[in-house]
Amino acid sequence: MTKEEILAKIESLRANAVGALDSLDSLHSLQEYKVQFLGKSGALTEILKSLGGLHPEDRPVVGQAANRVKAEIESKLVSLQETISLKEQQKQTEAKQVDISLPGFSFAHGFRHPLRIVEEEIESIFLKLGFSIYEGPDIESDYYNFEALNFPPDHPAREMQDTFYIGGMASHSPASPSLGPAKPDPRSHKPVALPLLLRTHTSPVQIRAMEKNKPPLYMICPGAVYRHDDDVTHSPMFHQVEGLMVDTKITFGDLKGVLTLFCQTIFGKKLKVRFRPSFFPFVEPGAEVDIACVLCNGKGCRVCGGDGWLEILGAGMVHPAVLENVKIDPKKFTGFAFGLGVERIAMLKYGIDDIRLFYQTDLRFLEQF
Ligand code: PHE
Repeated sequence: MTKEEILAKIESLRANAVGALDSLDSLHSLQEYKVQFLGKSGALTEILKSLGGLHPEDRPVVGQAANRVKAEIESKLVSLQETISLKEQQKQTEAKQVDISLPGFSFAHGFRHPLRIVEEEIESIFLKLGFSIYEGPDIESDYYNFEALNFPPDHPAREMQDTFYIGGMASHSPASPSLGPAKPDPRSHKPVALPLLLRTHTSPVQIRAMEKNKPPLYMICPGAVYRHDDDVTHSPMFHQVEGLMVDTKITFGDLKGVLTLFCQTIFGKKLKVRFRPSFFPFVEPGAEVDIACVLCNGKGCRVCGGDGWLEILGAGMVHPAVLENVKIDPKKFTGFAFGLGVERIAMLKYGIDDIRLFYQTDLRFLEQF
């Protein structure tokens, strides 16, 4: 190549390089540009390689021309780099800025289960009256669930269609005192084995509490109970709260006072409450407590089946035989007991007509409480 040809190439490279400057918009593209035109194997270096073929006199002229172009491009790059890096910084701070006018993030939060809400409300009423909270096992022996509660051996509640019996047997040996007193077989005089069961009510906790504590005893026991039952108002597992008040001089008047106060605290001060005679083996006299229908206020509707009243709990004066079973003298002490269904109260309180909704973990249902 001649000197003129190389100078022409340098000139056209200059024009190309200057033209390409306009398209540079980031530090990254600027770096690529530097490599392309000025780098070790860039366009300008390629041209300078052909310098060796020139006459020695021509070399400085061409070399100076190349250096001028290089210096010109480099100086343009320096100011361009400043502008670009300033712009990039600006972009970054803009991205970091908080726009306080944007709507906030909403966090998913949990809800208390309606049964838990009602159970806690019931507990708080009785805690204020001086009752303590007890718990007992879900798996019980026949002794606590029936026998100590004065159920005769042939009582229908013991039958398979009501009670879930489970595989194990309670040996009633001194080694398992939690299952109740040993009952020797009258013929062999050896302790008899009785089947274990899922408690059908929370009443066995009355026995457990009275065995451990001498009166005065004011206790409630919330917990799950199990029965062979399954429809829109009955579930094979549901919840009860048991109550027991044993002291000297406890009368049916105390029972009425406490349970009326309870019903009126849950459903409203003006609520009408009625006590009807009923039978449970472990109380005498026994009663069922009705409240005026929460929907029609006693006029009669679909919820109360037309008669204006809703049965809400079972209650009664603790049977002397039950007190004797736990070695409390029925001549010195009397007491009342009651048992209520938590689901029943929650259904009436919130107007829920299918008990299964409580156990289906459907968020659309649970989020409403
Ligand atoms: N345990 C009875 C039931 O489940 C209710 C009850 C408790 C009745 C205490 C009287 C006294 O039906």
